[in-house]
Amino acid sequence: MKEREPMSEETKEIRGAVTSGTEIAVESGGGEETAAPALPDALPVLPLKNTVLFPHLLSPLLVNTDRSRKLIDEVLRSPQRLLVCAAVRGEVETSPRPDEVHRVGTVMRIAKMLKFPDDSYRLLVQGVARAKIEDFIAEEPFLIGRVRRLEDVGDIESVEVTALARNLVQQFVALVSSSARLSDELQVLAQGVEDPSKLADLVASHLDLDVAGKQELLEELDVRSRLERVLAEVSREQDAHKVESEIREKVQTDIGRTQRDYMLRQQLETIRQELGESEDAETEVERLRERIEAAGMPEEAHAQATRELERLAQMPTAAAEHGVIRTYLEWMVELPWQNASEDRLDPEEARRILDEDHYGLDKVKDRIVEYIAVLSLKRDLKGPILCFVGPPGTGKTSLGRSIARALGREFQRISLGGVRDEAEIRGHRRTYVGALPGRIVQGLRRARTRNPVFVLDEVDKVGTDFRGDPSSALLEVLDPEQNSTFSDHYLEVPFDLSQVLFIATANLIHPVPAALRDRMEVIELPGYTAEEKLEIAKRFLVPRQLQQNGVANAGVELPDETLRAVIASYTREAGVRNLEREIGALARKVARRIAEESASGPQRIEPADLAKLLGPVKFEPEVAERTGQPGVAVGLAWTPAGGDILFVESTRMPGKGELKLTGSLGDVMRESAEAARSWLRGHASDYGLDPEAFRTSDLHLHVPAGGVPKDGPSAGIAMVSSLASIMTGRLGRPDVAMTGEITLRGRVLPVGGIKEKVLAAKRAGIERVVLPARNRKDVEEVEAGLLEGLDLQYVGTIDEALQHTLQGDA
Ligand SMILES: Nc1ncnc2c1ncn2[C@@H]1O[C@H](COP(=O)(O)OP(=O)(O)OP(=O)(O)O)[C@@H](O)[C@H]1O
Ligand SMILES: [Mg+2]
Repeated sequence: MKEREPMSEETKEIRGAVTSGTEIAVESGGGEETAAPALPDALPVLPLKNTVLFPHLLSPLLVNTDRSRKLIDEVLRSPQRLLVCAAVRGEVETSPRPDEVHRVGTVMRIAKMLKFPDDSYRLLVQGVARAKIEDFIAEEPFLIGRVRRLEDVGDIESVEVTALARNLVQQFVALVSSSARLSDELQVLAQGVEDPSKLADLVASHLDLDVAGKQELLEELDVRSRLERVLAEVSREQDAHKVESEIREKVQTDIGRTQRDYMLRQQLETIRQELGESEDAETEVERLRERIEAAGMPEEAHAQATRELERLAQMPTAAAEHGVIRTYLEWMVELPWQNASEDRLDPEEARRILDEDHYGLDKVKDRIVEYIAVLSLKRDLKGPILCFVGPPGTGKTSLGRSIARALGREFQRISLGGVRDEAEIRGHRRTYVGALPGRIVQGLRRARTRNPVFVLDEVDKVGTDFRGDPSSALLEVLDPEQNSTFSDHYLEVPFDLSQVLFIATANLIHPVPAALRDRMEVIELPGYTAEEKLEIAKRFLVPRQLQQNGVANAGVELPDETLRAVIASYTREAGVRNLEREIGALARKVARRIAEESASGPQRIEPADLAKLLGPVKFEPEVAERTGQPGVAVGLAWTPAGGDILFVESTRMPGKGELKLTGSLGDVMRESAEAARSWLRGHASDYGLDPEAFRTSDLHLHVPAGGVPKDGPSAGIAMVSSLASIMTGRLGRPDVAMTGEITLRGRVLPVGGIKEKVLAAKRAGIERVVLPARNRKDVEEVEAGLLEGLDLQYVGTIDEALQHTLQGDA
């Protein structure tokens, strides 16, 4: 049920009160309001805050001040039970004084009264007539005024008045049905009123007007002008409603993240239409028709678009579906059905561009140049689908961008990390509110060509859940056999993706579903050695960071030693992302120094300045330094970021033969440590040790390095080496790292992650790596060039291993 507007504190709803109040007998006085009864000269005046009452109408009133209660009590004692209700001017806090009350009011008769336990009175009052308060003859205990009845003026039988009244009924009925505020009963009520003056008052009392506005209508005695003014108000209110409800209707409420933009656009469009800024429907349809023709769609798409256009033409612009179809057609005409960029088919030039953007990475560059060479011979070549796999910051994404530049194609990139919903790839069906095409089609629209280089970042991080499997949609995207007819749920017609050069990237290849892996040509970007990083920094990162931080021409010098120190002590990574960040930090520090101290002349940053500029060393670089005392061995760990070195440290103290392990080691790693000690103890004499020494001393083995996951058996060798070193006092060899599982019988078993481990060793400046003999085949899979300068020693037993890892003789 619709609620009427609330009244002021003194005059509130009486509805619903009947059940809880005590009715005071008020005789129904003298029949209905027919002939105008004579008014007494003086009547009590009840000031009303926030409301104006009109004659002829029944209105509820709430009375809860002392003063007003006295007034009502007095009125009830009079035979006619009449009073004048008059609106208060403006804001009044206390009991209004005579000059704060409007002089035109309404004479009302109390029809019913309920007394409530809290002493408030709820009244039903019946309007009798307009009245003028000539003056006030008393102010206490309540206002009493001398009143004169005000009669309507003008000919209420005139044609104009009748026409106006009829019109008003119609408009008001329409307003009521569109308004949530007005009760539907009012329609019947208004249609039943024959007297134009009463009609105007009835409608006026229900308008959404402030007190001043209503007071004006009350004071208008000419019926015709009152009707006109009320009518004008009704249309104004109706217009306001219309705008409101149209916007509300067209803008659906279920707003998801991707739908937000769409919603806003719909609103904007609606507002435009209201402002008359939108083009008219016919021109719009024509314009779309032209664009459909110009878009060069294949037959099926063209037929579909034309069909939708015909539907659009038939549909009123106000229909909710109108916007949906128009948005759909906008998508269709904006897609690059035909438009393709001309490839630059010059392998040499391409190579030059690729070299301009990235140092090294020859394998990928060769592959691209080769593709271009073949493409120049066979134009309709399907693009290879490449997948760059490697640790973060090794240039996978930026290489994609460079390839686009080399080929002269547009570049697009989407990140698939965390994508769980198939619809993100393939779009939502149009029946879905705020539906949009998937990200592939969105990317193509942005590219404006059908043959961009399209990087699909993080294919290894695609998720699967109840919303469907995005990787199955990716399968279709990446399958050269299928992707010429890729179907997006939103478009409903196939789009040809075969000219797109897709490049996927991943940090790890294993999480990529096998079916997807099989469709791609995997190219590894394993990470850079310290020397390669130095080159990348000098040629790319330093110039770029100086430029970005506005000190390109400030004479900043970063000598090789400084860059080497940054690489070794402030970064530990396979890629160069943190290196670039640190260089950026240096550039900013220098920029600030220049600005603050207005330093001029060359700013040469020495390695010694780094601690001041970048803070304390973040990574202990010096393997040699750490291995400078007994008990230290360098292990190798596999990490998702590409492998890392790991120190194993032991100390020995007098005790009862206990082995203490720290560094949050996993169970398997702890067992390796036990095995290492047992083996060593069993072979004590081979190493010139007294077996008793194990009983009389406690050993403590610790593996620092917080960031590396420490479990698995592969640190076995490093543990034996560390313990052997501390027990024998022989130093570990500097620049030797090792990996391998051990058995109690002294054998060395193969382990995983060999490739990442040897590359990590190389990055750390290790010269020799001790590996299980049976891992030789894994090393052979690593590109030879990457291992240049690394001495690899394959061992089958612990004894052999210790020969390489410990200095001096047994
Ligand atoms: N060989 C290189 N030569 C020049 N700059 C490089 C090279 N490798 C990486 N970079 C630079 O390193 C930064 C990081 O590269 P990019 O964002 O392409 O890494 P990514 O392999 O995509 O990493 P992620 O796996 O984290 O996405 C870029 O600024 C890039 O230009
Ligand atoms: Mg990337």
